[in-house]
Amino acid sequence: QKAQIGVTGLAVMGRNLARNFARHGHTVALHNRSYGRTKELVEEFGHEGTFLPAESAEQFVASLERPRRVVIMVKAGPATDAVIDEFAPLLEEGDMLIDAGNAHYADTRRREAALKAKGLHFVGAGVSGGEEGALHGPSIMPGGPKESYEALGPLLEDIAAKVDGEPCCVHVGPDGAGHFVKMVHNGIEYADMQLIAEAYDLLRQVGGHSPAEIAGIFTNWNEGRLGSYLIEITAEVLKQVDAATGKPFVDIVVDRAEQKGTGRWTVQAALDLGVPVSGIAESVFARAISGGVPERTAATDAGLPGPAVTGQHAGDLRADVEQALFASKIVAYAQGFQQIQAASKEYGWDIDPGAMAKIWRDGCIIRAKFLDFIKQAYDKNPTLPTLLVDQYFLDAVSGAQDAWRRVAVTAAQQGIPAPGFSSALAYYDSLRASRLPAALIQGQRDFFGAHTYQRVDKPGSFHTLWAAEGRPEVDA
Ligand code: 6PG
Repeated sequence: QKAQIGVTGLAVMGRNLARNFARHGHTVALHNRSYGRTKELVEEFGHEGTFLPAESAEQFVASLERPRRVVIMVKAGPATDAVIDEFAPLLEEGDMLIDAGNAHYADTRRREAALKAKGLHFVGAGVSGGEEGALHGPSIMPGGPKESYEALGPLLEDIAAKVDGEPCCVHVGPDGAGHFVKMVHNGIEYADMQLIAEAYDLLRQVGGHSPAEIAGIFTNWNEGRLGSYLIEITAEVLKQVDAATGKPFVDIVVDRAEQKGTGRWTVQAALDLGVPVSGIAESVFARAISGGVPERTAATDAGLPGPAVTGQHAGDLRADVEQALFASKIVAYAQGFQQIQAASKEYGWDIDPGAMAKIWRDGCIIRAKFLDFIKQAYDKNPTLPTLLVDQYFLDAVSGAQDAWRRVAVTAAQQGIPAPGFSSALAYYDSLRASRLPAALIQGQRDFFGAHTYQRVDKPGSFHTLWAAEGRPEVDA
């Protein structure tokens, strides 16, 4: 008996993916650096399906039907290269290695090119949904050569989450496209989490609501257009009471947000592509600010002054925060999708943005009701310059903008940081501006560096001889 698929790297994500394949009736070859984990998996979950445990890489490879499909689920970085180096020499033409970790797309591009030269298929696949998703149905974003999807796609689609019977898995595009899209997914995840955190903070500080009350508000919002996994789990986290102290869980946690790096990668890539993902950047920086202990301590020690929180708000705070959250969220997704489109163009990936929204509707961390509308927007127009001009989003944001502005004002007036809300609003206002002060920046650049500028009234590049021309005499 041969296995249809193999998984190497049996920590929790690998183990759950292997079990998911087995539960769907596929025979799964298992391999881990230490055999103990492999044995454990078979002992504990062997009854769920057919597993072929292997003690060595050779035995593992020999137990796979051809073309061999080897899923690698190890820590991103050097560990992935080590596994590739171990397996590549054992594989034959047409076999495929599938990296299901959170790899950097540039690494995936490099690995794909190197393995292609050896006649092997390398598929960088983004997998989202955490441990539970891996077991019950993740959202899967496979890149790599299109041909590989014929032999691999059906298996991945089997184990993926489903919406109306349709799998949350599609071939994203060649080489690093899958991992790029997964990276942006995580960037959007950061932005979404930051915005939710700001909403909570305003409801708590300005509204004076307890965490338990705010949990109720989020549960209520979850029934509406904000309905999403992150809103749902936020309510759960806010409901939680610390057993040891009886305090709200959120109050006993150190307020320093950590990060493993995918949000940072998203911003780094966006800077290179020249795409303004300000919402994602603010969320990465907000985590960095929260972790900046020396600066925060110095600032509190110095007593940096600020206004008092009055609890006043020129509207219905709860309704306004919902609007600000929804509008800011739209901006963050609009920026993320713009980044995917820009990368797709840059690397010739031909990514279908509507298909990305489609496969994010379930299984992944950013699954949300409104992805249906994003899908529809891009299905209607795959080259939409920004989601904000699609009718649904245009209506949503224009309906929200007064409330959104009131929330930004309240936050600023009462000294409550809301970088996500306010930068999203600034982005929105920048897009709508008929004239931006960028004209002045062009003037400054030309003044000090002769960098030239373009004119509104005729084509060409211009430079002003600043000392000699154009400045009217001014009376002293
Ligand atoms: C997912 C998650 C997953 C992981 C994040 C956490 O899609 O399932 O995004 O990939 O939980 O990378 O990221 P940070 O540790 O950087 O917050």
